Amino acid sequence: MHVPQLIERKRDGGELSPREIAGLIGEFTAGRIPDAQMSALAMAIYFQGMTREETSALTAAMRDSGRVFRYPEGTPPKVDKHSTGGVGDKVSLILAPLLACEEFWVPMVSGRGLGITGGTLDKLESIPGFNVHLTEAQCLRQLEKIGVFMAGQTEDFCPADKKLYALRDVTGTVPSQALIIASIMSKKLAESLERLVLDVKFGSGAFMKTRPEAEALAAGLVAAGNENRVNTTFLLTPMEEPLGRTVGNALEVAESVEVLHGRGTEDLVGLTIDLCASVSGLPKGRFRGRLESGAAWRKFLELVEIQGGDAAQLKTLTELHRAPIVEAFPAPRAGRIVRMDAGVIGRTAVLLGAGRKVATDAVDFAVGFSGIRKIGDEVAAGDPVLLIHARDLAGRDLARHHLREAVEVE
Ligand code: URA
Repeated sequence: MHVPQLIERKRDGGELSPREIAGLIGEFTAGRIPDAQMSALAMAIYFQGMTREETSALTAAMRDSGRVFRYPEGTPPKVDKHSTGGVGDKVSLILAPLLACEEFWVPMVSGRGLGITGGTLDKLESIPGFNVHLTEAQCLRQLEKIGVFMAGQTEDFCPADKKLYALRDVTGTVPSQALIIASIMSKKLAESLERLVLDVKFGSGAFMKTRPEAEALAAGLVAAGNENRVNTTFLLTPMEEPLGRTVGNALEVAESVEVLHGRGTEDLVGLTIDLCASVSGLPKGRFRGRLESGAAWRKFLELVEIQGGDAAQLKTLTELHRAPIVEAFPAPRAGRIVRMDAGVIGRTAVLLGAGRKVATDAVDFAVGFSGIRKIGDEVAAGDPVLLIHARDLAGRDLARHHLREAVEVE
């Protein structure tokens, strides 16, 4: 295989065969294709796209780069949800324990921050001790015990996605339908699910900016699921403003803890419950009940403890990870909030340190935004529309500068 020729063919709009794709993914996973070449290929795919056959071959090759989960006979149905990526999207932290309160197993393999969107793994790691690196045996034991695990790709499980995901994050190659489909569905197919629901987002804070683009992505994702005998449904959801009231790793975990206590904004709670109902076929009221009764919170505590996290710190996580500067950003005038741009807010959170600029960066758990007001809220001039959590004055000034573009009051 001559990798430069394959990159050039894709760059010029040609097709790669399933054999070539499998070879590329195999060699990349084995460390025999350098990051520079893989990044160039990802950029060629970003510009030229992939046919359905190519996307399907890429998904299968990435799934098969590691092991596929096998479960003992007679175990409960395996269900999961995945989002195409949003700003302030902490749904997984609430949904996984909620579904595990029912007769399901939830083998949730998530990702880190990607582009302007936050990642479930980074959020979970803000809980001291929480271990997202689980072996297959640990995953299975945990499912048997509490019905849920939340972990990342490993050297054994979707290693190709682990490597490619990290490269895409920092090379401007995330918003490619083929790469998103292969990334999400390789993980979900390797989980050997019975049912999957996808939260396909569109808007300024999503990778698909328009509804038609999101519809096309949803069609590709659902086809990949159903072709592989996973009952796959989806919700198309707007991402013009951040979901809930926080953006940033520890801040989002703290907000999820609130939701798990039956509190939380309706956009976040409603979406979580809609996704639970869609994948389970159970009535929405049942999931609301699980939030209000504390059952989902207790399941989350079990999850944190079993994965080594210090559950005692959950309610004070934002004190543990407190940014040195926490400052209100004031409404520029009195009126109604008409824009709270998720794209700008997500990008600014990454610049503050909540996401990565290069693949080896560590994320800053403390920085981000809280108290985010919603579009439609009435505010007086000078009222805080959100709080900036910054590591230093330079970060605070940068956030102030970008937020002027993100927030509009009429
Ligand atoms: N989530 C993933 O796992 N991969 C993507 O490419 C986008 C969202």
